Amino acid sequence: MAMNCLLLYSSRDGQTKKIITRIAENLRKSAGVCELIDLATVKMINLEAYDKVMIGASIRYGHFNSALKKFAICHQQQLNKMPTAFFGVNLTARKPAKRTPETNVYVRKFLLNTPWKPDLCGVFAGALLYPRYHWLDRVMVKIIMKMTGGETDTTKEIEYTDWQQVDRFANDFLEIVSEK
Ligand SMILES: Cc1cc2nc3c(=O)[nH]c(=O)nc-3n(C[C@H](O)[C@H](O)[C@H](O)COP(=O)(O)O)c2cc1C
Repeated sequence: MAMNCLLLYSSRDGQTKKIITRIAENLRKSAGVCELIDLATVKMINLEAYDKVMIGASIRYGHFNSALKKFAICHQQQLNKMPTAFFGVNLTARKPAKRTPETNVYVRKFLLNTPWKPDLCGVFAGALLYPRYHWLDRVMVKIIMKMTGGETDTTKEIEYTDWQQVDRFANDFLEIVSEK
């Protein structure tokens, strides 16, 4: 059955975009049409045009982009009527014990506070790209990494994302069907 999926992302340095692009490539092999859109550019959108929706967003200084919360509130009725998935991306999730929707503080809090009830939720470890950050961000991220026992060498770029986990998530998304 051909499907029309909408994949929305909120990404600052590109890792969430890279992850959802990989998911789109997987879905296109079997699911048909996949539209990939930056959440920041979405104003009015009719979700009825789609069979399934996935949203991925990254964390910066403890928060998802406010566009995520707004979108979920604005579209809650439609979202809750159709098969949907959500995933969060952050560096806390570089630790496997903090890589589930229940154990990752940012994803857990988001899900507790949003009226949107995704059918499938995930957490992926992001990337640490010291050389690409603005100097102040580099200092701040280094402090956060030091406090949490992570990499503090600011010449390094490290991708912690588990791509097999991403592929499994894409497969799980294919399998969710509307029972609503
Ligand atoms: C300035 C800055 C602040 C960040 N703050 C947090 C944080 O509070 N908690 C966390 O787990 N990860 C934090 N991260 C890590 C990002 O979530 C991670 O780098 C992710 O890959 C970013 O995804 P994006 O490129 O799609 O925006 C921070 C990264 C930057 C650059």
